[in-house]
This record gives sequence, C-alpha cells and structure tokens, in this order.
Amino acid sequence: MAYTDKDIEKLQTTLAGVKVRTPVGVAAVNMPLANKECVTPESHADVLLKHVEAGAGFICVPGCDYYPPEMITRLRKQSRTRDTSARVKGLRFMGDPGVMYHASGGGAMQIEPEESTATFLDKVVKLIAILRKKKPENVPLIASIQPIGAFPESAVACARKVEEQGVDILELNLSCGGTAIVGGAVDYYLEKDYPLLRVGLLMAEHIDLAQNIVREVVKAVKVPVGVKLSPEMGFPRVVAIARAMRDAGAKYVQSFNNAVAIAPPDIYNGGRPVWAFMDANPLVEAHGSSYKALCYKHVAGISKFAPGLDIVATGGLEKPEDVVEVMMLGANVAAHVTGILYYGRNLLRREVAFLLKYMDEQGYQSIQDFQGLGLKYIKPAETVDFSAGQVMAAVDPIKCQACGHCVDHICLASYMENGGAYVRQEVCQGCGVCVTTCPHRARTLVARPL
Ligand SMILES: Cc1cc2nc3c(=O)[nH]c(=O)nc-3n(C[C@H](O)[C@H](O)[C@H](O)COP(=O)(O)O)c2cc1C
Repeated sequence: MAYTDKDIEKLQTTLAGVKVRTPVGVAAVNMPLANKECVTPESHADVLLKHVEAGAGFICVPGCDYYPPEMITRLRKQSRTRDTSARVKGLRFMGDPGVMYHASGGGAMQIEPEESTATFLDKVVKLIAILRKKKPENVPLIASIQPIGAFPESAVACARKVEEQGVDILELNLSCGGTAIVGGAVDYYLEKDYPLLRVGLLMAEHIDLAQNIVREVVKAVKVPVGVKLSPEMGFPRVVAIARAMRDAGAKYVQSFNNAVAIAPPDIYNGGRPVWAFMDANPLVEAHGSSYKALCYKHVAGISKFAPGLDIVATGGLEKPEDVVEVMMLGANVAAHVTGILYYGRNLLRREVAFLLKYMDEQGYQSIQDFQGLGLKYIKPAETVDFSAGQVMAAVDPIKCQACGHCVDHICLASYMENGGAYVRQEVCQGCGVCVTTCPHRARTLVARPL
C-alpha cells in the first residue's frame, strides 16, 4: 500500500510522554554486527537511520557506557574481585525453529580499562550528534545505559553524560542476559555481591538493588527513564518488579531483553557442541518467536496489574499483526531485533503499511483508539464462560484423511470407523485439542445439538 508522510501522521503516539512518529522500531543492539574496532559513529548512525527510513518511530542507542576513571578506581576497592585475565571475546549466532541463540564472550561484560571506556564514550557522543542532526524531529532517541555492579553512581554518571548529549529518553538496561552466563554468576547472585561487571539481569533479580538504581537515576536527570526487564523474571514476579520500578520513578518498562539459554548438544557426536569452530557449549542468550508468548504475558500482566507505566513490547514479535496484538494488550510501542534479522527492515515497512490499512478498515482514527482494547477481556479464569456442555468437536468428512492422529493421543472422544474419524458426542467436552492438532484441519468446534 502506498502512503504519504501525511498518512503516517496517523500513527504518531507517545512513549513516556515523548512523541514517537510510529509505534514500531528496532530494540537496542550493542553495535551493528561487525568487528567493534571497525564500527565508526558514522557507520553505526547509518544503520540506525536506515531503520528510520524504513518506518521506525524511535531510535534505540545502545551501549552508552561512561564511568569516570576515578569512580572505577574507587569502586574496584569496594567490590568483589574477579579474575580479569579471562577476557575471551567473540560472537556467534545459531538458529533452531523459533529460537535464535547467540553466544558472546563474557569479555563483553567486563569493564574496560579507563582509557578505552573514554574512547568508547567518544564514539557514542559523535553517534548521538549525527543522529540528532539527521533524524526527523518526532523520532526520539532512547539511550540505553547499564550500571556496573550494584552501584547506582555508575548508572547516574552515565545517565548524566548521555542526557547532556541531548537524548530524549533514558533506558536502564537491568536485564542483560549476558551477565548471567559468565563464570561466577551463580555465586554473585546467590551471595548478592557483585564484581565490577555490567551485571544487568543478575542484579535486577534483587528488587531492592534495582529500585535503588532507578531512584537515583530518576533523581539525577530531567528526561523520562524507562527500565528494560528480562523474561527470566516470570509471572507474577514481573508485576512486583514493574511496580517497584514505577514507584522508583520509571515512566515505562520494556517487556524484555534476551533470555538465558543453552543450545542442544550434538546427540550424534558424543554431546559435543553444535557451534561451528567452538570448543564448548556455553550458556548463551536466546531470542525469537518462541518468546512471543512470554512477551504477551509480561505486557498484559504489567498493563493489568501495574498500572501507571507505559510499555515497550519486545520479545519474539515478527509479524505486523503481532504489533497490533501487543498494543491491544496495553503496549505503547513494539520493538524487535530477531524479526529484523530474519525479515530485514522490510518488517518495519510492512508494519507501517499494515497499521495504516488496518486502522482504515477498522475505523480507528488514532493509535489510542485501539491501544489497550483487549485488557477488559482479561479476567480471572473462573469468571470466564467456556460454554461448557454446549459445544463439541465436529469432523469435516471431506477434509478428514482418516490418518488416525486424533485417536493416537490422549483424547477419549474420537474414534475411527469405516475409514473415517468420528466424535462420541456424550464423551466430548469441547476442549478443542483436536481442532488445534488435526494435521488436516478437519476439526471445528460446533454448538451441541439441542
Ligand atoms: C545481537 C543482539 C544484541 C543485543 N544487544 C542489546 C543491547 O546492547 N542492549 C539491550 O538492552 N538489548 C540488547 N539485545 C536484546 C534486544 O534488544 C531484544 O530485547 C531481544 O533480542 C528480544 O527481542 P527479539 O525477540 O525481537 O529479538 C540484543 C539482542 C541481540 C540479538
């Protein structure tokens, strides 16, 4: 569908009180995929601006690390020591249906020597300057910052420095799965004692530590602050965490970051790693469409039980329809990474076109017309009418291939006779498992005959 700039105005909405041009974008990715030394502010900006050209309504600027040298020296004395000689670096991706794994050397979480932290900040400062000059006004910059250890002052220093560069929103990454996969991580978490690492998820698992950091950052800056959560937090715990973030002053939460995972071992090769050119099977980070159900759970759970927060839905969203679904469950905007890797920026283009057509067809004038519409239907299970006793399964004899699948699992109502599948009315409870699993889509739920 062809559309004009004027049409796109219909998609404008807000996140944490800041206008966003469209409700779709690319979530934080720490530098484009290239050797870090080769990524310049110009090349990084080019990638992010191409997202905008494709329809992104906001820009996530990740990896804005700034920790003043004297602070690092001081905190090093106060924090648990860690063997810093192991600094393996590397990045490798691998996909299974629905899951993409990425292994990254734990060196990425290590605090760099003071000089290189400064060099890195220099790159981010230049990147933000280029983006501010070239991006449209209603496409805000969301800068991602991460504390080191559980020290609020590290996040505050970084937040202030990045705010000075003119970003519109600050996002606290308290959810990086990369921290949970380094050696010693289990002890750090269980002993609630962290070394000077970007500890993300590990530390945010302790609500009091996370709240402390959010509170200090919110106090230190004027721009709105959001918090990126983790799929590891689970339900209903995520509600408690979201409420704590809100009470500490956060204006939004992002449903989640990567999950912690392990790739399957090679069962035909003595359990060796399936990773090409890698000598072990490390804990890794995972993302992709199989995490969509968790994303919906976080979005709906937070909308319903932690009101007063905006939401960025992230995790497994890979279709234009997914964007509308999460927004109906209360999200303000949707952001992807894996979807962009599989389908390219064309996913953003398709989403913008879909949203315009969908709103036109459904008679919605603005995003707010449908945001949160699904929430009133989220109810305690015992209050929902399942029409029990009034529905049953039916078989379409033309579609049925008599394959016998429906009698080869746990259903007691299906039976085979004369080369076809049938349903015993009096036994069928209308659960719909056959509708979901019939390989030939020959089953439907119908009203029981009176
Ligand atoms: C290669 C890669 C790098 C990422 N880097 C960051 C990062 O620097 N900061 C961050 O907050 N999230 C990072 N993420 C997490 C994504 O922003 C997103 O939360 C996650 O991939 C789940 O969304 P998805 O299922 O759409 O991929 C990264 C993800 C990938 C795949």
